[in-house]
Amino acid sequence: MHVLVTGGAGYIGSHTLIELMAEGHDVCVLDNYANATPEVLTRVRTLSNGQIADYRGDVRDAAILDQIMQDFAPDAVVHFAGLKAVSESQQKPLTYYDVNVGGTLALLHAMDRAGCGRIIFSSSATVYGEPDYLPYDEAHPTRPASVYGRTKLMAEQVLTDWAGADPGRSAVILRYFNPVGAHGSARIGEDPQDIPNNLMPYIAQVAVGRRPALTIFGDDYDTPDGTGQRDYIHVVDLARAHVAALDYAGRTPGVRPFNIGTGQSYSVIDMVRAFERACGQTIPTRQAPRRAGDIAAMQADPARAQAELGWRAQHDLDAMTASTWAWQSANPHGYDAG
Ligand code: NAD
Ligand code: UD1
Repeated sequence: MHVLVTGGAGYIGSHTLIELMAEGHDVCVLDNYANATPEVLTRVRTLSNGQIADYRGDVRDAAILDQIMQDFAPDAVVHFAGLKAVSESQQKPLTYYDVNVGGTLALLHAMDRAGCGRIIFSSSATVYGEPDYLPYDEAHPTRPASVYGRTKLMAEQVLTDWAGADPGRSAVILRYFNPVGAHGSARIGEDPQDIPNNLMPYIAQVAVGRRPALTIFGDDYDTPDGTGQRDYIHVVDLARAHVAALDYAGRTPGVRPFNIGTGQSYSVIDMVRAFERACGQTIPTRQAPRRAGDIAAMQADPARAQAELGWRAQHDLDAMTASTWAWQSANPHGYDAG
């Protein structure tokens, strides 16, 4: 199948390219490198020993989208391109709506013009907000607590209405829990451009000596050790969920959201201990108050993905931390070191 991957040079996109190519798909990337470097695609090509057509441009740009539709004629699109920093989204709401919602609209318009009716969309568990119950299933109410989360939910609504308007269309919405880890080669991984917002890349940068200590945000949550619990998912498992979703979209019209998580959750302390096992060092920590907007615990019910996509996570916590450490220790400054 010809698969256009928007945001394919990013963290999750790059891992997904590898899994798509391993399954024999032809891939094409559109990325504006707002949060990535072209070096990523160089490495993915080497790892996959294959071709990747790539276009540098903005997903909101109709001209480049039409060009890709003409040159590459995708059968399906996997749409990762977007902005994802929660605190930045509160400061720059219009930018986030523009890129995340406007980008999705522009892409769907271009797909319509070209007669492409299949899309896999990167959504987030953050669309659920404060839990009424855990684990979240896909029927849990959605009430995101941030601008970022609302842009994801709004894009989901656009996709739902788009898919509902024509029986030839299919939209699969993947609600990712907390993606972590890196490819087994240690050649690609997560490379935050700034101070990491998320737990795992922060711990990895402490371990490699780039930061003095991890700040633990809150030790008074209603969880067994008082720190926040999350459902961490290995990025390679997440990448494989996209391959399964493409298959599903090919046989199922309409729209369907899926939780993509393991169904297990771990605390901040659990993550620190697991990382210490992986890297053989102690991770210095210091305690701070809760981070605004954080919730105590999140956990996926991944049963629907298992039943309908035939997908389930294969990697455990130690595989997540070991692969993160392998990537970070081999590339202490991420892609910058070349
Ligand atoms: P990322 O920032 O590494 O990847 C996004 C890619 O999109 C980057 O390569 C960036 O350069 C590109 N991009 C950004 N704006 C663009 C634009 N206007 N036009 C073209 N390209 C553009 O992020 P990621 O972690 O790989 O996330 C991929 C998707 O998954 C995003 O939509 C994100 O919101 C979603 N998501 C991520 C997480 C997570 O924790 N990483 C969790 C849930 C959902
Ligand atoms: C954050 C985003 C969420 C997004 C998700 C995945 C916020 C409020 N939420 O969620 O919208 O979908 O990332 O990209 O930003 N922690 C620390 N110290 C740190 C970093 C994190 O103690 O330096 C704790 C957090 O308080 C939390 C856990 O680690 O309990 C996980 O944090 P993080 O990796 O940022 O993910 P989320 O909070 O789930």
